Amino acid sequence: MKSENFVKESVRKMAEYRVPGEDAPVKLNQNESPYDIPLGIKQEITARLNSRAWNRYPPEVPETLIRQISRYTGVEESMILPANSSNELIQSVITAVCNSGDTLLTVTPGFSSFSRMSAALDLNLAEVPLKEDLSFDVEEILQAGQRARMVILASPNNPTGSMLTPEEVEWLAGNLDCPVVIDEAYFEFSGQTVQGLLAGYENLLIIRTFSKALSGAALRLGYMLASADWCREVRKVKMPFSVGLLQQVAGEVLLQKRELFSGAINYILAERERLYEALEGMTDIRPYPTSANFILFKVDGISAGEIFESLSEKGIQLRYFNSPGLENCLRVSVGTKLENDDFLRELRRVLEREKVEVVV
Ligand SMILES: Cc1ncc(COP(=O)(O)O)c(C=O)c1O
Repeated sequence: MKSENFVKESVRKMAEYRVPGEDAPVKLNQNESPYDIPLGIKQEITARLNSRAWNRYPPEVPETLIRQISRYTGVEESMILPANSSNELIQSVITAVCNSGDTLLTVTPGFSSFSRMSAALDLNLAEVPLKEDLSFDVEEILQAGQRARMVILASPNNPTGSMLTPEEVEWLAGNLDCPVVIDEAYFEFSGQTVQGLLAGYENLLIIRTFSKALSGAALRLGYMLASADWCREVRKVKMPFSVGLLQQVAGEVLLQKRELFSGAINYILAERERLYEALEGMTDIRPYPTSANFILFKVDGISAGEIFESLSEKGIQLRYFNSPGLENCLRVSVGTKLENDDFLRELRRVLEREKVEVVV
């Protein structure tokens, strides 16, 4: 019995989620932190794990972790819902709210999980294009949002790095009659959050992750900030026990050591500025302003695909885009100083070589 006779057409049409270059020596393609969690902290996490029973289910409501997240964010405990990742929260929130055929509104170019989830649940995806400079067209989002069951936006946006101001989010939340979900995966890098609006706007939900600034991509841990009522409802559709013992313990320890991450964040921000200036100084390269730990740039006159291939042969992995709004673009995550130097050196080399070939 073939799966094609049963699997929904919307799912069969989806591309598999694969990221090339998982083992690349200079991995600048998934916006992870370039800094691993120090061994001493990993050992503390494993020691705590070893002292707990593994044959028992972990607490379904991880109260100790919630307390730590509350200290980290300043948001009260009843308004925090931890989950297996921000991807799980995106899935859970959409599942809790949208019936098949409902309109889910987002922007394009935007984060691919929103469109994948929309396809899996047979939703009608409405995508408002970003403006030419890749900023959000807030007026258009407000217009289109009148017909939506839910609006979901990443701010800073992936893959562009552009972001909404708190005033813009307030305007949307205040003028839309539907949930407005803001994915703040990169908020530690932007230094801005809309969590201050939660008290005034019941329809505002914020999703965050441990995968970026907190160096925990492998752990799979995220959390939602929203009213206690929203947290209760979304928890019902989230997989039971999806926040396993490892995530709970690691999340607690990482947040206890959070001063460790502020140094890394400052370092990444300084490197981001250095990378941006270097890219800006190259003819044929146009970087877009960014509020995250990555930079999107457009390539003029030379194939970004070929640059991508040449760098990847040298073990330097970027993300390549060539879709409406992202024609001939590459995205580079900010790495360590050494990684960024490798990237800049190879990029310059490829640009020189391509230029010579064009002239010849
Ligand atoms: C906007 C945005 N949200 C969420 C995620 C994924 O986070 P998680 O690892 O928690 O699923 C990413 C990862 O690239 C992202 O760019």
